[in-house]
Amino acid sequence: MTISLDAFFQATVDTDLVDHHEALQGALQEHYYDKAHGRTEEWDQALAALPELTLDNVDFTEQRVTLPLPENLPTDEQLDQTQLKDNLMAFKPWRKGPWHYLGIDIDTEWRSDWKWQRILPHVSNLKGRNVLDIGTGNGYFLYQMLGAGANMAIGIDPTRIFLYQFHAAQRLLPANGAHLLPLRSEHLPAFGCFDTVFCLGVLYHRRSPIDHLRELMSYLRPGGELVLETIVVPGDEYTILVPEDRYAKMANVWFLPSTAALENLLRRAGFKDVRTVDVNMTSLDEQQATEWMTFHSLEQFLDPENPELTAEGYPAPRRATLIATR
Ligand SMILES: C[S@@+](CC[C@H](N)C(=O)[O-])C[C@H]1O[C@@H](n2cnc3c(N)ncnc32)[C@H](O)[C@@H]1O
Repeated sequence: MTISLDAFFQATVDTDLVDHHEALQGALQEHYYDKAHGRTEEWDQALAALPELTLDNVDFTEQRVTLPLPENLPTDEQLDQTQLKDNLMAFKPWRKGPWHYLGIDIDTEWRSDWKWQRILPHVSNLKGRNVLDIGTGNGYFLYQMLGAGANMAIGIDPTRIFLYQFHAAQRLLPANGAHLLPLRSEHLPAFGCFDTVFCLGVLYHRRSPIDHLRELMSYLRPGGELVLETIVVPGDEYTILVPEDRYAKMANVWFLPSTAALENLLRRAGFKDVRTVDVNMTSLDEQQATEWMTFHSLEQFLDPENPELTAEGYPAPRRATLIATR
C-alpha cells in the first residue's frame, strides 16, 4: 500500500488545476505509484499505528505546528506517550519543523520557523491565495502558509519519508487546503495559475538554474509572485561559485551565486520587480542534530577552526531570500 493522493484530486476538481489532473496522474503513476520505496511497508505500518483522532479548530499560526492532545480523552483512549514517541521516531530523520504532536515535541534539525519569520514579512499577503511550494520537505511550511491565510497550499517533494511525516499530521486533521505531491519540479506541467510560488532551499540542488527559474515562472499566473530562497556567496554581479566537488559536505550543490548575480539571473529568466529582501548567515542554533535527526549537521559541515568557512574552505552558508513577479 502507498499513501493515496486522491484527496488532492478531489479538492481541486473545481479549480484551474483540473486542466492538469491528467498530466499529474501520469507523473504520479510513473514516479510514485510504480516506484515503491523499499521501506514502504515499514512506514505504512508505522503510519497505521498512529492514533486515529480528528482534531477540530487547529490553529496554524503557532511557530511550532501544533496538533494538540485533546483534553478529556476517555480513559480507554488515553495515549501511551512513550509508545507514541517511538511511533513518530519511525519517520526519522525529522528535518523541518518544529512540531507538537499530541503531547510530544518534535524538535527537528532545522528551526524552520526562523526561516518563515524572516520571509513572511516580505511576501504579498497570502490571504485567499493559492500557493505552490517547491521542495516543501515534510509540509511544515504548508501549514504555516495556511496559518497566514492561504486558501490552498500545494507542496512538491520527491523524498518519500517526508510524505509520511506530512500524513502523520494530515490524518489528525479535517479536510484542509494542504496537499503534498511526491514529485520533482521537473515532473510538473506549466500550471500558469498559482498566485505565489515558494522555492526555498532548492535552487542550489539544480544543475541548470536558469531552466529551473523558468520552470518556477511557468507555475505562476501573470502578476504572480515568486519567493526564492537559496544559498549565496559574497561578491558582485560577476560572482558565481560552482564547487569543485562537495559544498558543506553536500554532494549535490551546483551553483551558488552572489545576490547581485542571482537578481540578474532572475531578470534574464524574465521576472520583473526583482529584489533581495533578506540575507542571513545560518547559525549553529538554526541547524543542528537533535534526537529526531541524529546524523551530522551544520557543525560538522564547517571548518572547526573557522566557522566562516565550510569544511572544504568555501564561504559558509548564507541564505538569501529574493522576491520577483511574473
Ligand atoms: C534543503 S531542503 C529544503 C526544504 C524546505 N523547502 C526548506 O527550505 O527548509 C531541499 C528539499 O528539496 C527537495 N528537492 C530536491 N530536488 C527537488 C526537485 N527537483 N523538485 C522538488 N523538490 C526537490 C528535497 O527532497 C528536499 O526536501
